[in-house]
Amino acid sequence: MKKIKGKLTRIFQYSEALLAVLFCCILSAESKIWLHPDTGLNLYQFLDKHGYGFYENHTVVTEDDYVLSLLRIPRGKNESGRTNAPKPVALLVHGILSTPKDLLVKGDDSIGFSLAEAGFDVFLMSCRGNRYSLAHRKFSIDSLPYWNFSWHEVAYYDIPANMDYIAKLTGQSNVSFLGHSQGGTAFVVLAATRPEYRARITSAQLFAPVVYMDRCRIPFFRMAVEIQEQIEDIFRDLQLNKVVLPYNPALLPLVIRLCHRDSPYLNLCVSLTGILGPDPEQIDVSKITVLATEYPAGGSFKAVMHYLQVAKTGRKPKGVSKKKRFAGIFRQYNYRTRNAKMYNQPNPPMYNLSAINDVPVYVWYGMNDYFCGPSDFKRLISEIPSAIGKQVAYPRWNHIDFIYARNASDIVYKETIRIMKKYTKIHP
Ligand SMILES: *[C@@H]1O[C@H](CO)[C@@H](O)[C@H](O)[C@H]1NC(C)=O
Ligand SMILES: *[C@@H]1O[C@H](CO)[C@@H](O)[C@H](O)[C@H]1NC(C)=O
Ligand SMILES: *[C@@H]1O[C@H](CO)[C@@H](O)[C@H](O)[C@H]1NC(C)=O
Ligand SMILES: *[C@@H]1O[C@H](CO)[C@@H](O)[C@H](O)[C@H]1NC(C)=O
Ligand SMILES: *[C@@H]1O[C@H](CO)[C@@H](O)[C@H](O)[C@H]1NC(C)=O
Ligand SMILES: *[C@@H]1O[C@H](CO)[C@@H](O)[C@H](O)[C@H]1NC(C)=O
Repeated sequence: MKKIKGKLTRIFQYSEALLAVLFCCILSAESKIWLHPDTGLNLYQFLDKHGYGFYENHTVVTEDDYVLSLLRIPRGKNESGRTNAPKPVALLVHGILSTPKDLLVKGDDSIGFSLAEAGFDVFLMSCRGNRYSLAHRKFSIDSLPYWNFSWHEVAYYDIPANMDYIAKLTGQSNVSFLGHSQGGTAFVVLAATRPEYRARITSAQLFAPVVYMDRCRIPFFRMAVEIQEQIEDIFRDLQLNKVVLPYNPALLPLVIRLCHRDSPYLNLCVSLTGILGPDPEQIDVSKITVLATEYPAGGSFKAVMHYLQVAKTGRKPKGVSKKKRFAGIFRQYNYRTRNAKMYNQPNPPMYNLSAINDVPVYVWYGMNDYFCGPSDFKRLISEIPSAIGKQVAYPRWNHIDFIYARNASDIVYKETIRIMKKYTKIHP
């Protein structure tokens, strides 16, 4: 009964959203509304406004010719720029459809700014395909070959290229790594496939890394997993297998209309954020328009397919207890009939998690994450020999609380930074 009620409520919420969108499109009269002053700022305007106008732009080219932007915040606000003492390097990697801005968007107590204030030389990577890294030496960004990548390539090419660039720039070969969501996925792939780079990770902090999704509670996720091959084929035939949810400036006015602080639809906006795990207490309602300013910012269709494949591989046969129906297999992209040609074996190679036994990997997770359940994170932790589990004590902690929650600093960041400092040999 409770379940049915939950489902009905959800259906009701979605239809209400649809009506609201229609309503606000018809509504043409401009009315005066209060907006958070960070609304509409891009990454660079945001940095200027928050007193970090001394940031640096860098450009990194990968082995496979993707041209990526790399942002550096070399010091804290009140630190003089003249000291030449070496600083520990932190490399931050954002999630899918996201940009480096999401790691700063909370403002002064965001993880990015807090690390700069704590004495780290902070580098924010921009994964291929997001709005700040849309370039390639040979391929046009509208072409199929440009979008022919998953998080495997983010891990295998983007992170190493950034690490090598940073090493040249700062003279330091090691980095303290921090990744959210797909940034965590990419770390696990990197650590499993490129031991020479793993050996240069002082410590890794993974916020809700998406590897196993056996207990995923995103609406329609299981259905999408079931028909993954059909989706892939249809999109390929229609040549839609390129970008998903690119940055679209037309979205913001809509979000502003619906989700400004005093909007009658505010509760609805808050419940929509709950698709990834409801935690209204931690959403700062005055900032929804800031969060939506450039999210989504583009990702590849292939990355989404790769996640669905991982979730699909381990479907257990009928008769196995309901609780253990799924057990994903974390492996490379499944090209089906072309696997033999690509990998010299009928199935894609697995990522060897047991090889990650020499660098400290902290896996942070909430109990209310609808992307992955607690047991998914626990499985990942048990399979990485040098992993250390960090279950967030706040019971409703979800997937996006790691970057958006009001209390993220007290609940997660302070401890994260303490751990990162503990492992660095250079003292910030
Ligand atoms: C960094 O690059 C952006 C985009 O090209 C530009 O708008 C901004 O002014 C640059 N900032 C600096 C400090 O060079
Ligand atoms: C920087 O200095 C100003 C003025 O002394 C102070 O108000 C501010 O809190 C300092 N900021 C940080 C991050 O230490
Ligand atoms: C995508 O990459 C795979 C593997 O490198 C390759 O076999 C395939 O031909 C590529 N497809 C396109 C459209 O570039
Ligand atoms: C670099 O990272 C490796 C792997 O975690 C570690 O063994 C080594 O001590 C680190 N070196 C420095 C200078 O921090
Ligand atoms: C995985 O890594 C472990 C530890 O390095 C190694 O002993 C094992 O042979 C590897 N397995 C495969 C399939 O490569
Ligand atoms: C979150 O922060 C607010 C304001 O600082 C505080 O009142 C509240 O107790 C905090 N909640 C948690 C769960 O830490």
